[in-house]
Amino acid sequence: MKVGMIGTGNMGSTLGRLWAGCGQDVFFGSRDPQRGKALAAEVGRGAQGGSIEQASAFGDVLALAVPWHAAQETVRIMLPLDGKVLIDMINAFEMDSGPLLGFTTSAAEQIASWAPGARVVKAFNSIHFASIANPDFGGQAASQFYCGDDLNAKAQVARLSTDIGLDPVDAGPLWMARQLEPLAFIWIYLAWGQNLGTDTALKLLRRPVS
Ligand SMILES: NC(=O)c1ccc[n+]([C@@H]2O[C@H](COP(=O)([O-])OP(=O)(O)OC[C@H]3O[C@@H](n4cnc5c(N)ncnc54)[C@H](OP(=O)(O)O)[C@@H]3O)[C@@H](O)[C@H]2O)c1
Repeated sequence: MKVGMIGTGNMGSTLGRLWAGCGQDVFFGSRDPQRGKALAAEVGRGAQGGSIEQASAFGDVLALAVPWHAAQETVRIMLPLDGKVLIDMINAFEMDSGPLLGFTTSAAEQIASWAPGARVVKAFNSIHFASIANPDFGGQAASQFYCGDDLNAKAQVARLSTDIGLDPVDAGPLWMARQLEPLAFIWIYLAWGQNLGTDTALKLLRRPVS
């Protein structure tokens, strides 16, 4: 898979490093192309780096790993996105009041409206980057809830999840991002508001088939 990482912070660097490590062709895109190149050189394994425009053109799958306040401008720079799988992992929230969107829309649906033709999948938003890097919780893999309207795009995201040891859980169509974004905030508030810390992750339990 050709994967373009958009943003070189915690999430972009962690996921890009892991995907490069399991054989994906990764391009790190940054506002500062030198930062993208430096990260690619550090990661190795054939990873490349440069600008956001270059990463967007490179990837069949694009992972949008920027803050919510930068999302619209970043997507504008990434266009055109026709046919591309666009992974939105963004959480738009205030720590003292919760999600900024919900009930009638979501960050994922807003992003889809800015990226005509893109196959948007909400994913990786309800898990901390350190748990993505180390998803094994005593023999149980952390859950990676995702949703989207394109089945093929979701299958690619599920594979990108299992490849790095996460347990993908298909939560349905893209409008279910209205539920996955607050779900992330439950975890975020438990980690910081309730001081459970980042060595915690959400898990969907399945009863073993007898
Ligand atoms: N941290 C987590 O564990 C976690 C978990 C789930 C979801 N998320 C979501 O994933 C997204 C990225 O989180 P993160 O922890 O990776 O954030 P981060 O470490 O702050 O990195 C965000 C990156 O976005 C890029 N960027 C583009 N425009 C920007 C702007 N105007 N201001 C700041 N950065 C800008 C920067 O990369 P360049 O400098 O290379 O352009 C920056 O390094 C966020 O929307 C967050 O809600 C985070």
